[in-house]
Amino acid sequence: MKTKIVTVTLNAAIDKTYYMNGFSTGSVMRVDRVHAIAGGKGLNVARVLNQLGHAEVKASGFIAGYNGQFIAKAAEDEGIHTDFVAINGESRVCLSIVDEVSGSFTEVLEPGPWITQEDENLMKAKITELAKQAGLIIFSGSIPKGCRPELYAELIEICSSHGVDVFLDTSGNALVEGIKGKPGLIKPNEDEIKPWLTHAGNQDSDSNMTVEASLDSYSTAIRNLAKDTEIPRVIVSLGAMGALAYIEDVVYRVRIPELKAVNPVGSGDSFVAGFAYAHIRDLPVVECLRFAAAAGSANVLNPTAGCVLPEDHQRLMEQIEVDIWG
Ligand SMILES: Nc1ncnc2c1ncn2[C@@H]1O[C@H](COP(=O)(O)OP(=O)(O)OP(=O)(O)O)[C@@H](O)[C@H]1O
Ligand SMILES: [Mg+2]
Repeated sequence: MKTKIVTVTLNAAIDKTYYMNGFSTGSVMRVDRVHAIAGGKGLNVARVLNQLGHAEVKASGFIAGYNGQFIAKAAEDEGIHTDFVAINGESRVCLSIVDEVSGSFTEVLEPGPWITQEDENLMKAKITELAKQAGLIIFSGSIPKGCRPELYAELIEICSSHGVDVFLDTSGNALVEGIKGKPGLIKPNEDEIKPWLTHAGNQDSDSNMTVEASLDSYSTAIRNLAKDTEIPRVIVSLGAMGALAYIEDVVYRVRIPELKAVNPVGSGDSFVAGFAYAHIRDLPVVECLRFAAAAGSANVLNPTAGCVLPEDHQRLMEQIEVDIWG
């Protein structure tokens, strides 16, 4: 199997953080410190794969304008190889304003470029080229404005026709449409799986259900989802509760230790990166799940989204339990 992993971020962004000593609207405000990195969920996956020591990673997706050039350069500066499709317009800036006095957190998100049919065709050509080099392609995050909802499914089919394995981590309509392309793995979180909880005839898990009952309802949902869609691996990540995974006709429960979370954002991306790292090395399913959850959990220990320290990952690997559920 080829060992190159490609991550695709259709909605790449500059993730910029302003750290401020006080923040209010309607006046002139001065920023204390500015931090800007290449952002978007696929870039987080590529970053964590790098941190775990997987050298053969390439980040792709759409970039536009000067912001797009910044995204590619910032990723390369971090040691992430890139191969983006450059289009017209301007990639978005996702601005987080952290008021270090009050502790308040404000987000301002730009709309990003409008994707045309021609841009979609360029992306299909890019994925065709990358599929010839890769063993695994991971599509992460939302689809940008203008994109047809079918695009993920079409890109996944291109990968499959080249014998490349595909993971898809997205939400809402992009997930509903994307699963029609039959990716090899999907990883919704508690919110993202909700439409299938209803579909499975189950109650909402956050009503007064016991943990066991709510895990049972997730188990039914992922089993039904996998059977209906013919997707071989359906994993629902449950934040501090770990994860449930339906893989090869077995449901596994992944238990993680209790941790003091500093910042859980990017944990799902880290989970996907951990699974990919183990999967491309042909490790057994239980080890893939352990690798994944250790990466997700290691991420919560750091303030930056998509940051996994190898020593945290290694320690957590020993504390994660994977059992067969039900
Ligand atoms: N508070 C926490 N404590 C310990 N581990 C956590 C915590 N939150 C998340 N994790 C780990 O990360 C994994 C993925 O988390 P989660 O379900 O929150 O992903 P997500 O909502 O898709 O995240 P994102 O989309 O922001 O990347 C969990 O399965 C778990 O291993
Ligand atoms: Mg997620």
